[in-house]
Amino acid sequence: MGRKDKLSTEPYKGVRDFYPPEQSTLTYITLTMKEAAERFGYEEYHASILEPAELYRAKQAENEEIVNEQMYTFVDRGKREVALRPEMTPTVARMVAAKRRELGFPLRLYSIPNVFRYERPQRGRLREHWQLNVDLFGSRSLAADHEVILLASEVLRAFGAKEDDFEIRINSRASLNELAQELGLTEAKYKKLRALLDAKDKMDEGKFAAGLEELGVPENTFSGNNTPNDIARLIEELASSGVGNAVYSPGLVRGFDYYSGIVFEVYDTHPQNRRALFGGGRYDRLTELFDDEETPAVGFGMGDVGMRDFLEVRGLLPAYAPACQVYLAVTSPELAVAAQELANELRAQGVNAAVDFGERKLGEQIKTATKHAIPNLIVVGQDELASGQFAVRNLESGAEETLPRGTLARYFTGA
Ligand code: HAM
Repeated sequence: MGRKDKLSTEPYKGVRDFYPPEQSTLTYITLTMKEAAERFGYEEYHASILEPAELYRAKQAENEEIVNEQMYTFVDRGKREVALRPEMTPTVARMVAAKRRELGFPLRLYSIPNVFRYERPQRGRLREHWQLNVDLFGSRSLAADHEVILLASEVLRAFGAKEDDFEIRINSRASLNELAQELGLTEAKYKKLRALLDAKDKMDEGKFAAGLEELGVPENTFSGNNTPNDIARLIEELASSGVGNAVYSPGLVRGFDYYSGIVFEVYDTHPQNRRALFGGGRYDRLTELFDDEETPAVGFGMGDVGMRDFLEVRGLLPAYAPACQVYLAVTSPELAVAAQELANELRAQGVNAAVDFGERKLGEQIKTATKHAIPNLIVVGQDELASGQFAVRNLESGAEETLPRGTLARYFTGA
């Protein structure tokens, strides 16, 4: 068979393969998110990747760009139109509406699902990403908005970020609605204005200004510094809670139609990564999709892709370290099972150990350990097995220590 008959080893466009070092980074990112959410008392939930596509088409939930251009959909064998979830918010609203009577409020939920959007792949944007979703249901209080933004800030702090590494931009849909009214915009024009504001960061200033002019909106409308009362109070309360980097951002809109109150985005301030790391806000009416009852809610989503870039440019990503602590090489293939037995003794005492089967030369076996970044090596040979004395070599420093079989595990566990 010629080369051209073979399949490509590339992953599907815009999605990633996670080899162990990349998977380890993803695990680090999601674990840090998880711990931050749990510190605030949030409980983890999960759901399927698949949802009926109509969930995202409903008027109250719509994001036109996502629904018309970015949704992955297919028709199943029963002729139902199915979507790969492009976001988690409609799912969590559905879950809350389904069990409203049993769930206690305020209800604090988090999840780290993978979500899918048919985007043009570029720095910071892919077709599949993992997204921390933090949502607080059952409170109308500004204190709930305050908590959610505090938690967003805490997530970044937990990664080692400092206050000037990011900026929290806050606006309110209510004040944007008022503005639209003052300008006398029709509903159609207001929708266009929201789409224009949402796309502002993706276009040059000239195009944005032209867009405003077309809608008859004065150019200086979004440079005002008359902070609405609720936003001013929120910013003040955040500052008193130690979050000093929140600012009023009158042009911030967020693409989803379900937002009804405060909206916010957390921006990376690094010149290479000027983009939103989190986006969220208050959406008090989304559960009305499912019945007549209103359950107020506020929350945000934060992707792993932007977070990885954020950490990378600041040197905040930990170096890859495999879970395996020691590699057992053998001097001949006949000793593979003996090595496995020694490894088992170590495992029983809490040490992660992998063995080589001796099919390659000792030098090659050691190279394998190094390629996997395993920090320690034990060579298992006839002499070692007979004497019960084994040399542990630290593959980073080259230092070697010879120990009796029964104390090897303690060398690794420090017990
Ligand atoms: P969103 O702004 O569409 O909001 O996404 C939230 C975050 O997910 C973004 O700030 C970004 O970090 C990340 N993200 C979104 N799309 C991509 C992509 N194509 N590639 C990489 N990262 C991406 C929502 O999805 C709302 N449902 C958030 C929410 C939760 N609001 C209330 N609760």
